[in-house]
Amino acid sequence: MNEFFQKDIISVRDLDKQKLETIFDATEKIIQMDPNQRREIARGKTLGYLFFEPSTRTRLSFQAAIASLGGTSLGIADIASSSAQKGESLADTVKIMSIYSDVLVLRHNLDGSSRFAAEVSTKPVINGGSGTEEHPTQAIQDLFTIRKEKKKIDGLKIGIIGDLKYGRTVYSLLYALGHYDVEVHLISPETLKVRPDSVYEIKKRLSFTESTNIDEYIDDLDVLYVTRIQKERFPDEEEYLKVKGSYVIGLDMLQKMKDNAIILHPLPRLEEISTDVDNTKQAKYFEQAEYGKYTRAALLGLILNRDGF
Ligand code: CP
Repeated sequence: MNEFFQKDIISVRDLDKQKLETIFDATEKIIQMDPNQRREIARGKTLGYLFFEPSTRTRLSFQAAIASLGGTSLGIADIASSSAQKGESLADTVKIMSIYSDVLVLRHNLDGSSRFAAEVSTKPVINGGSGTEEHPTQAIQDLFTIRKEKKKIDGLKIGIIGDLKYGRTVYSLLYALGHYDVEVHLISPETLKVRPDSVYEIKKRLSFTESTNIDEYIDDLDVLYVTRIQKERFPDEEEYLKVKGSYVIGLDMLQKMKDNAIILHPLPRLEEISTDVDNTKQAKYFEQAEYGKYTRAALLGLILNRDGF
């Protein structure tokens, strides 16, 4: 039996290096597979999605992924149109969705929401983003992108810039990078540094520097991972306005980077990467979004098939 069969994906911390590499290898297989063969992987299976927060990429890539495997999807993209609006609990909503689906993906504004959903669901639950806590499938896609574009992960110098306090993709990425031999530089405004409780855990496996100044590292990086300042998570808009626009990656910044460096972003992007950068060879964030469809298809294929595919 494959180790992902009928398993929840709640935190990257549940995935060791071998499990990550299994997903990456399965993703390569998905990419290379004949489409007709791929459509047999989840034939007759249903993905249920429950999105209590907005999403473009995560929800649509999961839907595209299950469709590419021959399955279907149903769910709630706008919670205001569901009975949660009448006061139905998350537990009951998840239980109902697990009756109609073979695997669920949940996005929710509360930390711990996916783990709670997994406890009440009769079907495997995938965390599609929980509060400021984690976004594990994003980290899988991020690492796959690095591996694909740089042909390796070990040995790279990786800068992560922007909102490191509220950006859940950052936490999942840092936990996952802890399995690799990488040099990490965290760059953020002073008020948006990685949260101290997580620093303690991340430091156990990963050495990193913290700075407010991108110029200290920009010319030495192999990967620059840019994140959006998460306006919606600030308790006080005044605080957001103080840090809004702190870093903007434009063509001027590209001039300082190594010629073969790559720029990633989980997206959505606001002003933190100038659109001028989009057509440069360093910009890989749209490829990154595309890889998300394949990594999620691989994960679904492994979760839904006892012996893998
Ligand atoms: N990267 C990401 O999670 O994008 P969405 O919010 O659009 O799903």
